[in-house]
Amino acid sequence: MIKAVFFTLLTLVFFYIIWINNIFAPHEKYEIPNQYEKIVEDVKYAKEGKQLFEQNCQACHSVRYDAVYPASIQANPNLKALQEHYGKVLPAEVYESAFYTELSQLKESFGKIPPDLSTMYLSRGKEYLFNFILDPQKVLPGTTMPPVMMGRPEDTAKIISYLRSVSEPSPSEQAKRTLMGVFTIAYLLIMGILIWIWRGRILKKMGLH
Ligand code: HEC
Repeated sequence: MIKAVFFTLLTLVFFYIIWINNIFAPHEKYEIPNQYEKIVEDVKYAKEGKQLFEQNCQACHSVRYDAVYPASIQANPNLKALQEHYGKVLPAEVYESAFYTELSQLKESFGKIPPDLSTMYLSRGKEYLFNFILDPQKVLPGTTMPPVMMGRPEDTAKIISYLRSVSEPSPSEQAKRTLMGVFTIAYLLIMGILIWIWRGRILKKMGLH
């Protein structure tokens, strides 16, 4: 009995940590004011954010999960043919070899290839992104990324909203995953109860109960 309570508690703590209060998620010392956080979390700004991204960031960055490539690559006539063959989102090896020249030029200009931003929202978190994009030097001293969004917190929040929409699965996909999670836990619970009953029967048969 004590064991059962112990393992139930352990399971509850486990799910609390991964679902409700994920201590491993990135949200360290950076902060984002409430009014901008609301913009980031509202999907209705994602579309405007994408346009702002195209105007301010696409000269250097890609968002490959959304088939958005750096301007120099977007201008390469080969892109369309490759997309017809491989689909809109090009496989990494194809992308890197086909646009080696463009990527090398970016590397030459900035010391490194400006990173793809498809999963930045997940890896860095909104607090970090907000502070970094507004003032790159303050967060990464010596970085070659220019402060293109300096003094424009609202537009910055909209761009992060776009990056968030790319990094997260669509609402229907999320609903499917939640349902699967619920089914999995229900299955484990029912199996646990059945095994418990079965165990009781065996003990009884053996005359130990
Ligand atoms: C002129 C080129 C250029 C433009 C324009 C530009 N960036 Fe960057 N960005 C870079 C480079 C270069 C790096 C790599 C910085 C480093 O690691 O020092 C970078 C890095 C980043 C990173 C990763 C930071 C990290 O912690 O690794 C993010 C996020 C980012 N940029 C977002 C943006 C957004 C959003 C915009 C548009 C508002 C933008 N950038 C515009 C060149 C650019």
